[in-house]
Amino acid sequence: MTPGRTAPVLADATRGRILYGGDYNPEQWPEETWHEDVRLMRDAGVTTVTLGVFSWSTLEPRPGAREFGWLDRVMDLLHGAGIDVVLATPTASPPPWMGRLHPDTLPRDAAGRTEWWGGRQHFSHSSATYRHYAAAITEDLAARYAGHPALTMWHINNEYCTFDHGDEAAAAFRRWLRARYGTLDALNTAWGTAFWSQGYDSWDGILPPRHTHYLKNPTQVLDFRRFTSDMLLECCTAERDIVARHTPHIPVTTNFMPLWIGQDGWRWAEEEDVVSVDLYPDPRAPLGAQHAALVQDLTRSQARGPWMLMEQAAGPVNWRGVNHPKPPGLNRLWSLQAVARGADAVCYFQWRQSRQGAEKFHSGMVGHAGPQGRTHQEVKRLGADLARIGGAVAGTHLAAEVVILHDWHAWWASAQEARPSAEVDHAAVLHAWHRALWESRLTTDFAHPEHDLSGYRLVVVPQLYLLTDAAVENLLGYVRGGGTLVCGFLTGIADEDDRVRPGGMDARLRELFGIRTLHEWWPLEAGETVACEGFHGTLWSEEIEAGPGADETLAYRGGELDGLPAVLRKGRAWYVSTLPEPEALRGLLARVAAAAGARPVLDGLPAGVEAVRRGDLLFLLNHGREPATVQLPGGHRDLLTGETVGGALTLSRYGAAVLAP
Ligand code: GLA
Repeated sequence: MTPGRTAPVLADATRGRILYGGDYNPEQWPEETWHEDVRLMRDAGVTTVTLGVFSWSTLEPRPGAREFGWLDRVMDLLHGAGIDVVLATPTASPPPWMGRLHPDTLPRDAAGRTEWWGGRQHFSHSSATYRHYAAAITEDLAARYAGHPALTMWHINNEYCTFDHGDEAAAAFRRWLRARYGTLDALNTAWGTAFWSQGYDSWDGILPPRHTHYLKNPTQVLDFRRFTSDMLLECCTAERDIVARHTPHIPVTTNFMPLWIGQDGWRWAEEEDVVSVDLYPDPRAPLGAQHAALVQDLTRSQARGPWMLMEQAAGPVNWRGVNHPKPPGLNRLWSLQAVARGADAVCYFQWRQSRQGAEKFHSGMVGHAGPQGRTHQEVKRLGADLARIGGAVAGTHLAAEVVILHDWHAWWASAQEARPSAEVDHAAVLHAWHRALWESRLTTDFAHPEHDLSGYRLVVVPQLYLLTDAAVENLLGYVRGGGTLVCGFLTGIADEDDRVRPGGMDARLRELFGIRTLHEWWPLEAGETVACEGFHGTLWSEEIEAGPGADETLAYRGGELDGLPAVLRKGRAWYVSTLPEPEALRGLLARVAAAAGARPVLDGLPAGVEAVRRGDLLFLLNHGREPATVQLPGGHRDLLTGETVGGALTLSRYGAAVLAP
């Protein structure tokens, strides 16, 4: 946070509404179209648009030039129509002149290939030249629009996600490592460079993990990920500090990609006034809604309250192999789901579908079919829905009794070469455990393993391969304090430097779960299952010898591990050494949650109906393709229809209700 600044918050921009709108790129259109745009925006209930995300070459067509006239006119036009502006710094896509005149601004991949202009995000986070130009345009933009009445929020860059293995990045990496380790000895120890003759005698010898003949040093790779996240954050906060100096009262955000591996999302969230995310579930994916719920739960937890859905698609995207449209009702349902899970802003990429450029087949709020197209008609209907519920919803919070622990450093350390099984994917395991809780209608937060967990009845650790000592102590303290913990396999294996803990798993955790010895891992092939008492496991199994303290075990049945424990419990600490099939994991977690006193939002819901309580509102969301009937305790008012409902409530296919007591 900029020193001395009292952080503004999302509520400063929402002012009791749900923000509705999207990225608006008027520079792609003749001015006559702007007038039609603004009229259509008003009709559709658009409150807010994001301007300028990719406008750098329009704003600064030549080095140092400034073309603000068009932006002045757009800002004024929008303000005249009562539409607020989230103004973006355009720094995600430098103009071609920059790469031509300053090749040092272009990033290089691990094999030394340059990422040229002609696409986007071709900037090196370490380039002093890039940072200079980015600061200059940000400064002038902020100075010019600081007092503009349409300005409601700043949007820094866009989806920071670049890597750079070039020479300037190498020098920055060395500086970062010096700050982390102080001495070469400490670095050599942390990286385990005695292995394969990698000992460094000079800082100058250290490189980013470039292309190598065989496997790379894993701690070098881990530190490079940490470094990359920090460098991108430095770029972001440098721009944040400039705009905050001009407008200390205006909140600042940068949009995250959903559950993206590249940024330490906890660290970044601390620097954001508003946490925002882009979310594009596949309309055809059977678990699209659960994927969305996971990202929404994570984003809400990063924000510690209301958050912003910065981008979604009104229809198809253009970047999957096959790009499906959203069937009627699905855009509304998924938008209401975001609101249910804490969003106070529902926005899209982008307002008007482009006719040219790489994203011309990506939907917009106004598609190629025009305002009469079904997609726009649905966008309009949703605008009216959000206006109806906004006053009751905006600013309210969700209360969760269950928390999932997630840490990007653990993910980085586990997503490497030469692991026990390439089939184990951190994000997929996280999804599987979240799914079990989501299907049990247990509202779930996310937290960092070192966060205070005392407010939760149940802590779930799907997989945290790397755990710091502080995190291990935090888990132990939580259980000692009366909490219930369920932990999946490959947790607590390595310390902060990716050094394997003695005994193959942290001794304090083994003691906690009643594991005497972890003899061997027995990873499974894709599609293979292992029989256990009452269920089947997938992906992984373990040869464990239980210690005397284990109160309860479910054993492996048959095969090499016959009779050995697959699931162990010692007091309130559970350890699950395989990935149970979905129904079994759901059953197990529902049972443990119930024993811990964590309650589902509603009991007896039909399959496919999601229930979320936000403040005193109950959101019911039917993800099924068939109507579904929910038995409601007592009478309620549906804020979407204004009707009073009670007893049996039938939700249509993709239908939703927002019930007030
Ligand atoms: C990302 C970007 C947008 C656009 C969309 C397309 O979220 O931020 O500029 O490219 O993807 O889905």
